[in-house]
Amino acid sequence: MRVYLETFGCQMNELDSELVRGQLQSLGHQFVLHPDDAQVVLFNTCSVREHAEQKVYSRLGLAGVRKKQGEQLIVGVIGCMAERDGVDLFKRYPQVDLMCGPGELDRLPLLIDNASRADAADRSERVALAGNKSRRSATLQAAEDNLEMLDLSRAFEPVANDAKSKSAYVRITRGCNKFCTYCVVPHTRGAEVHRPPAHIVDECKRLVDAGVIEITLLGQTINHYRYTHGTALTVDGHEAPQVGPGLAAFRKPLGPGARTTTFADLLHRIHEEVPGVQRLRFVTSYPRDFGDDILHVMRDSPRICQYLHVPAQSGSDRLLKAMNRGYTVSEYLEFIDRVTTTLPDCTIGGDIIVGFCGETDEDFEATCELIRRVPYKNNFIFKYSPRPGTVAFDRLTDDVPDSVKRARNNALLALQNSVSARVHEQWVGRTVRVFLEDLRERSAPAQAVHRHVAVSVAGRSTASNPATMPVRQIIGRTPGDLIVALPAPNDAHSMLGSVRTARIVGSKPLLLDGMFAAT
Ligand code: 5AD
Ligand code: SF4
Repeated sequence: MRVYLETFGCQMNELDSELVRGQLQSLGHQFVLHPDDAQVVLFNTCSVREHAEQKVYSRLGLAGVRKKQGEQLIVGVIGCMAERDGVDLFKRYPQVDLMCGPGELDRLPLLIDNASRADAADRSERVALAGNKSRRSATLQAAEDNLEMLDLSRAFEPVANDAKSKSAYVRITRGCNKFCTYCVVPHTRGAEVHRPPAHIVDECKRLVDAGVIEITLLGQTINHYRYTHGTALTVDGHEAPQVGPGLAAFRKPLGPGARTTTFADLLHRIHEEVPGVQRLRFVTSYPRDFGDDILHVMRDSPRICQYLHVPAQSGSDRLLKAMNRGYTVSEYLEFIDRVTTTLPDCTIGGDIIVGFCGETDEDFEATCELIRRVPYKNNFIFKYSPRPGTVAFDRLTDDVPDSVKRARNNALLALQNSVSARVHEQWVGRTVRVFLEDLRERSAPAQAVHRHVAVSVAGRSTASNPATMPVRQIIGRTPGDLIVALPAPNDAHSMLGSVRTARIVGSKPLLLDGMFAAT
């Protein structure tokens, strides 16, 4: 069948979509670029904030119109919204034919098949959600094994010669055990489960053999990765995914002779065993239980990117407690100080929620203070969005008016901009390696064009062309995830997907200007 798949939300979802695509293609389905050309329309959804859900509802509305007009169309909602809304979604959107939670994606082909025989298949045969226990009544381990098969069935065809294909995600942990009070992820993706190190290393090797040069490891709290060998085995004796240990495991030293792969061990192993990976990155780090062992591996492994995405969420101890984050501001700062001492070039990014339940002006000021104190290259700033099913939704009051949330959001963006500008400025004059990803054309004042591409505009009078001129730029990323814009040479297209050396010649709050330099 012809399938259209649209992805909303996070990197975990992007990876899930890639795996779904590979799985359906191997069964003979073809993917199309426009929903109008499809017989099956799938939305891989996100529930983290209400805004992401609204977009899906509007897509479902459009699909409903097509069905009303008599088109034979299968509409599927997969991912976190399916898991959270459950069969309620069928009631509100009767145009939906199938639903599949993020922990059940290995069953998607069967659901599509059932839905294509819609008259024959009743609704229970078109729904796979962890919460409805239709399968979880079997052991969690069996379900995890099936899900693991989905990761293992990834297609490793030689990648296209473009930047997007040369960068890949590899999941190391599924789910999350943290239960931050505002967050749906533990409810939609379930408990933390770690993949066996051998599977992860093998996947990295195969991606690199297929032409990938950058790998980003994924986990919701990635530094909590821990795999104890010899305890989770399949019936035929192979290592299987393993439910994560409790937080207490991170407080005590590993016992003598424990055959455990920690996150530091895993990073080191991938770096050593997969020399073809030019850039090894990971997201997202949790500000607690991030040992010096990880920082040391980052320091000593030249191909591991010195970049941490380590969300603070708030700069107020009172709110961190209400959010159940499990650390104080001073503990967060102690961690940041360890990072900047051990890895002076490491860039740091984060997430902040403004307007969480009970946030006062003083709490907000404490968050501003945190942003002034930490050299963040960027922060994603979110207005608190109450999510049904979470502790905050059930037990706390969403009492900060939207106008205040908006004002705090804007104030924080402006403050972060000035911090980002300072961080970016420090790179001017330095030489960096840039992974080239994109070409863009932008207007620049004619004088600036003259300075940057003097040869191509030589002879033209800037006075007779005082406004703007289009400039072609090639855009890339440093190992620390700073964006660099460089003047695009004629063969720029063929440079996409490669790593080159550049000298940084200027900076803006969220951008570095560079010039190509000899390697
Ligand atoms: N409201 C607003 N932001 C949220 N996030 C998670 N849940 C919510 C919510 N209910 C943000 C957090 C998290 C990022 C992925 O999304 O900052 O780090
Ligand atoms: Fe959500 Fe907290 Fe888990 Fe991150 S650590 S996914 S914010 S529950």
